[in-house]
Amino acid sequence: MRTRPARFGSPALLAALAAAPLLCAGCGDAGRPVWDGKGPLKVGVILPMTQQTATYGEESWNGMQLAAEDLRAREGTPAFELVLRDDRSNKQEAGNHAKALIETEQVHVLVGSVASSNTKQIFMEAREAGVPAITPASTNDRLTVEGGPLTSRVCFKDSFQGRLQAEFALARGWKRAAVVVDKAQDYSLGLAEFFKQAYEAGGGQTSLHYYVTEDTDFSSVIENVATQAPDLIFVAGYYEQIGPMIRQAKGRWDGKPILGGDGLDSPELPKLVGDTQAEIYLSTHFAADAPFERMRDFAARYKSRFGKSPGAMAALGYDVLLVLMDAARRARDAGTPDQLAQAIAQTQGVEGVSDKIDLTTPDRTPIKDAVIVKVDGGLKFHQAVPAPR
Ligand code: PHE
Repeated sequence: MRTRPARFGSPALLAALAAAPLLCAGCGDAGRPVWDGKGPLKVGVILPMTQQTATYGEESWNGMQLAAEDLRAREGTPAFELVLRDDRSNKQEAGNHAKALIETEQVHVLVGSVASSNTKQIFMEAREAGVPAITPASTNDRLTVEGGPLTSRVCFKDSFQGRLQAEFALARGWKRAAVVVDKAQDYSLGLAEFFKQAYEAGGGQTSLHYYVTEDTDFSSVIENVATQAPDLIFVAGYYEQIGPMIRQAKGRWDGKPILGGDGLDSPELPKLVGDTQAEIYLSTHFAADAPFERMRDFAARYKSRFGKSPGAMAALGYDVLLVLMDAARRARDAGTPDQLAQAIAQTQGVEGVSDKIDLTTPDRTPIKDAVIVKVDGGLKFHQAVPAPR
């Protein structure tokens, strides 16, 4: 999907630029921390290490550790330092950490977060301060448009994910979908909308059902969905809510296939859903048992190192550091220190664990393959879905 370039010169941005030299001693002319290409690149990393969706943070951080080892062994990689902060799966905390990492820690670039609503806060701070920011995993289409030209990501976006799920459902003859949406999450709202558009364009019918992230009792949404007697249930949400929701729906949603996006991709999901008989599929960026060497090799290595099988977040954590340091190397070689964002936007052909990554698209979002995974005891590779290249 084509996106419009973001505009510069918002009053907030101008105010931030004017105020920044006072806040940031040792910053460059624009009042922001500048990487001179000689000292280490200081990377502020913001991830959900605790609370809701904590497996996302743990996996991405582990993935980054593996990438850091590989990069440090690779000739020509500039030195770098990772400064980790826990956003506790909360958007205010994500924004506060971004601000503090820029102003106090004087990081040169931000990496994070996972949930799109949290990344949005980081991107807003980065935009105001003029600091590059890259997210490993946030798929909401609007993020890199609203975040402006210094923002990017290494994952595909929800317009692709929603469409591929709609096609998957329609190809199976599932014509009526109940769509379950977390109205407190940008990820959920966006994904549900893209699914709905593509599904209806293909002749499907939808009904919409809402919950919010804080909910723990899903009986009313479960009932409303059951009353529709749909052919399938599309759950646009995170495993922390959808897992218990499916468990609570036992006896009410029986026999209905359930589809969701990458937000369901957690080693916790199969445990959370309990002994449901439901057929559950999700689209994501990586599967440890997929028949692709790059994924299998990574999975084996991750497992021997951390004692568990990696989910998509681990792969994206690995890939984000690979992409960032590839750009850092080019920025430094080009003799243009501080042109990091531009170098990121010129990323081409970086061989990630998830797929090859190219950020020369108008919204600095890669066009990548997806995989569909089935929940069957654990998360099992089901099929690959090629990117619309
Ligand atoms: N795509 C999700 C979001 O934007 C985050 C996510 C990515 C979760 C990958 C799990 C795996 O909020």
